[in-house]
Amino acid sequence: MTLPPAHIELREITHAYRTDAGPLPVLSDLSVAMEKGSFTAFVGPSGCGKSTLTRLVAGLMRPDQGQVWLGGKIVGSPRATVGMAFQNPVLLEWRSILDNVILPLEIVAPRMPRKDRADRARALLALVGLEGFEDKRPSELSGGMRQRASLCRAIVHKPEVLVLDEPFGALDAFTREDLWQTMHRLRREESFTTLLITHDLRESIFLADRIVVLSGRPATVQHLMENRLGPDRVLDDLYAPLATEMLATLRLQIQIAQGRAPTDAAAP
Ligand SMILES: Nc1ncnc2c1ncn2[C@@H]1O[C@H](COP(=O)(O)OP(=O)(O)OP(=O)(O)O)[C@@H](O)[C@H]1O
Ligand SMILES: [Mg+2]
Repeated sequence: MTLPPAHIELREITHAYRTDAGPLPVLSDLSVAMEKGSFTAFVGPSGCGKSTLTRLVAGLMRPDQGQVWLGGKIVGSPRATVGMAFQNPVLLEWRSILDNVILPLEIVAPRMPRKDRADRARALLALVGLEGFEDKRPSELSGGMRQRASLCRAIVHKPEVLVLDEPFGALDAFTREDLWQTMHRLRREESFTTLLITHDLRESIFLADRIVVLSGRPATVQHLMENRLGPDRVLDDLYAPLATEMLATLRLQIQIAQGRAPTDAAAP
């Protein structure tokens, strides 16, 4: 059996920022391959280089060494085929929610008729439970609702890749779990290859097929875990023994990455 070619390939990436105090190595010989339609979560210590990784995948910067491959081509500049969402959704207050979601289509598909753009945006807003809020301004929505709208905006132009940098980090626990389910639904309806950066280990095993634990800075792949919860997982599965076992492994790996694991536990 031959494996399908990877959709996204991070190949031996090494990068350092130039700072006044000299080069700051952030990523070191980091390699991961992601298949089309897969969902990969990246977890790792604060400041290890996760957001840097998202900027490289989005083509906002190039690594010192190594390459990001997307659909068989090296990524060297920003791409419309990548949708992004961040911790604090940046929605434009002078536009309605519908017009905020439409924005990427105005840029990527300027010739698309206004009605088609609006239909696409309305369908997505309905899918995430925001039907009836299309004409509101961002400030009239709760944080969770704004984040839902921002997810719609990230995928309205049908990007091949969705990059999520802690999109649920600023939300309370219940809203966050709601959004996880929304994300699950979106994933069934739309097709994109997803990279999720998160600090929340439960979130990683609910949403992702694979969880990559990054080492401390400069980050490299320290541990790779296949999610053993099935694709039809529900929130309650997060409290079953299998999930507890995976979470314990991930916690230990994070402690090792932070350099604070007991030495005997650090052995393979
Ligand atoms: N433009 C920049 N110039 C110089 N240093 C930078 C720049 N961007 C990030 N850094 C530094 O690079 C390191 C990695 O930053 P990055 O934002 O990628 O980490 P992160 O893993 O996303 O952190 P967090 O978990 O806190 O979000 C940090 O030490 C940060 O201070
Ligand atoms: Mg970050």
